[in-house]
Amino acid sequence: MKTGGGKKSQRVRAYTSCNEARKAVKQRRKLEPFKTPAKRYLVSRALGRGGHQGSDTMNIEANKIAGAVLSTLLVVMGLNMTAGIVFAPRKPAVSGFELPSEEPAAAGGAAAAVAEEPIAVRLAKADIAKGEKATAACKACHTFDKGGANKVGPHLFDVYGRNEGSVAGFGYSAAMKGRTDKAWDADALDHFLKNPKAYVPGTIMAFAGIAKPETRADVVAYLNSLADAPKPLPKP
Ligand code: HEC
Repeated sequence: MKTGGGKKSQRVRAYTSCNEARKAVKQRRKLEPFKTPAKRYLVSRALGRGGHQGSDTMNIEANKIAGAVLSTLLVVMGLNMTAGIVFAPRKPAVSGFELPSEEPAAAGGAAAAVAEEPIAVRLAKADIAKGEKATAACKACHTFDKGGANKVGPHLFDVYGRNEGSVAGFGYSAAMKGRTDKAWDADALDHFLKNPKAYVPGTIMAFAGIAKPETRADVVAYLNSLADAPKPLPKP
């Protein structure tokens, strides 16, 4: 009975001229002796259930996945290109940042990177009047005139060429007292006035320093002028 019915269906299917359908029927017939669905499933697996419906579904699924992947790629590429157009980068001729270069100074012959001109060079261009103005801040602690008193700091008349820490009766710091073998020449004053605490560690002179190299030279020239006989300044 069953075989007959099967043949009939085979014939009917044959009209549809669908090979896959015929295969499916054949396979179903092969699986008929296996009674439980579990067994059928296992056997169909072993036979490689390449049924009509199965393979087509697989193909459609695969196509869907491939399509999704491709369209995602397209969208990403499109976004990338649009972003590239919208935010078109301006490429500099030379890559990297332009930093304020210290080369001119180095080319000028100075060895250090942030080169200051030597004090002798700056003194040649120094302005005593400007130096006097720049000492306004010192006047809280120092006197500059001949016979001036000691205040918070020692009097500074004739300080140029004077030994460091050598004003009699002034209470220097221990740090300054230990330096009486050195004299206040242009170089020493330049360094001290740039950063007192760096030049004389432990000094009690509460003054931050004069940052501008030119102003320091002006002050040194002014200090040198405070004497009965100003000393010759170093020549460049
Ligand atoms: C806040 C007070 C104060 C100010 C401002 C100040 N000084 Fe002084 N200065 C002192 C004291 C105190 C000393 C003694 C330092 C020590 O003993 O360590 C001193 C020492 C000195 C010395 C060494 C003198 C020596 O006999 O050895 C010089 C030079 C000097 N000061 C210059 C200046 C100049 C120039 C300025 C201004 C640009 C200035 N000071 C600003 C308080 C001051």
